[in-house]
Amino acid sequence: MRDVTLIDIFEHHITQKYVKRSGFAHAIAVAYHAFHLAKQYNENVDIAAKAGFLHDIGHFTWYRNGKWDYELYRQNDIHPIKGAERAHKLLIRLGENPIQAKTTALAILFHTDSFLPSNDINRTMLQKIVKWADEKDEEEGGAHHYRTITRERARESIIRLDQMIDKELEYLREKRLS
Ligand SMILES: [Fe+2]
Repeated sequence: MRDVTLIDIFEHHITQKYVKRSGFAHAIAVAYHAFHLAKQYNENVDIAAKAGFLHDIGHFTWYRNGKWDYELYRQNDIHPIKGAERAHKLLIRLGENPIQAKTTALAILFHTDSFLPSNDINRTMLQKIVKWADEKDEEEGGAHHYRTITRERARESIIRLDQMIDKELEYLREKRLS
């Protein structure tokens, strides 16, 4: 039994406020990619899916004259730092295990190099997975942030992914015991 599920996170008003900004369709797609990659590389599927889902929770909308401004974004953006902190606070508030919350926050912190002066971070496998999962869903011109999904479909996808995580964790538990 997990302390916190994806649906707990999804329903929280902090998630509804901030993940909506960068798009639920993208967040859910990245959570699914991260789950599958974690399964493939024997990493923690629960942490990977949560970090994938929350990776852009720190986003700020860099608009100038009603349009996304890449120059402003490139110069000023710190969304991985804000996101790591915001996700950590949210997870702790929901009752997540502190070690798991920290691991999730670090995967969010390192999901991109865009805010760093150089791109020479030595990532753990889990951190690489969240970065790859994000890149898998990226579209030209940031279009992945504008794809839409209804609240009902988003809820269904999140619940389905929760079931997939529970099933995988259960399978691993039984495998360990046998
Ligand atoms: Fe992203």
